[in-house]
Amino acid sequence: MKPPRSAAAKRALGLWKQAPRSSRVHTSIRWWTAPFEALELEIPRAGNILEVGCGHGVFTSFIALSSRSRNVVGVDIDEEKIKLAQGSLQGLRSDEATVSFEHRPSGEIPTVGGGWNAIVFADVLYLLAPEDRSRLLAECAAVLAPGGVLIVKEVDTKPRFKARIAQFQEFLATKVMRITDGDALDFPSAADLEMLMTSNGLTTRVARLDKGYFHPHCVVVGTKVGS
Ligand SMILES: C[S@@+](CC[C@H](N)C(=O)[O-])C[C@H]1O[C@@H](n2cnc3c(N)ncnc32)[C@H](O)[C@@H]1O
Repeated sequence: MKPPRSAAAKRALGLWKQAPRSSRVHTSIRWWTAPFEALELEIPRAGNILEVGCGHGVFTSFIALSSRSRNVVGVDIDEEKIKLAQGSLQGLRSDEATVSFEHRPSGEIPTVGGGWNAIVFADVLYLLAPEDRSRLLAECAAVLAPGGVLIVKEVDTKPRFKARIAQFQEFLATKVMRITDGDALDFPSAADLEMLMTSNGLTTRVARLDKGYFHPHCVVVGTKVGS
C-alpha cells in the first residue's frame, strides 16, 4: 500500500474532495492499493493517450496532470462512473491538464487522427471473457500510432498466494458487492497477455510493480513497430 507522493498524484485525488463520501473512499482505496505512480512512468510524456476502463478516472486525471503535453481520454462501460469522473473535473483549471471522459459500450474503442500514442488498461482485462479480451486487444493494436504502446496492468497469477488474495477480493467486488461492472472473471497471467500482444505484432516487455503491495501487480508493455 502506498500513499500519493507526487504533486500530480495529490492533485488528482484532491479533485475528489467535494465528491460523495463513497466515491472519495473508493478513489482513495484505489490509489493506496494500485501502483499508479510506477505505472504512469510507462506512459509516453506527450501525445494522445487513451485509458480504457477508466472507472472513476482518478488514474486518467493523474496521467494528464503529470504532463501538460498529454491529451488524455478515459472511457468506461459504466455510465455512472463516467458521470462521476466528469464531475471530478469541475475543480480542474484548463491550464492544469487536458483530460476528458466518455461512456462507451464494451468493445467500442474511440479513434484519433494519427492513432493513439498509448492505450492503457489498469485492472480491466480480467473482467472480460478470453475471446472478448483477445478481440479488444487486437482492436487496440490496430488503432495505435506507429511506435505507439499498449500498456496493460493486471495482477499476475504468480506468486500464487498473492494472486489468490487479489482474486478473492475481485470476486467480492464483482459478484457480491457488485461495485465493478464486467462480463466475466478470468485472470490472465503476464505470459498470457504477452502472447496476445505478440500475436498482434507488438514487441513486448514485462515489469513487476508489486514491491510494497499485497497484490502481484505487473505491467505488460507492447510496442507497435514504426517511428
Ligand atoms: C477495477 S476497475 C478499474 C478502474 C480504473 N482503471 C482504475 O484503475 O481505477 C475496472 C473497470 O473496468 C470497467 N470495464 C469492465 N469491462 C469493460 C469493458 N469491456 N470495456 C471498458 N471498461 C470495462 C469497469 O466498468 C470498471 O470501471
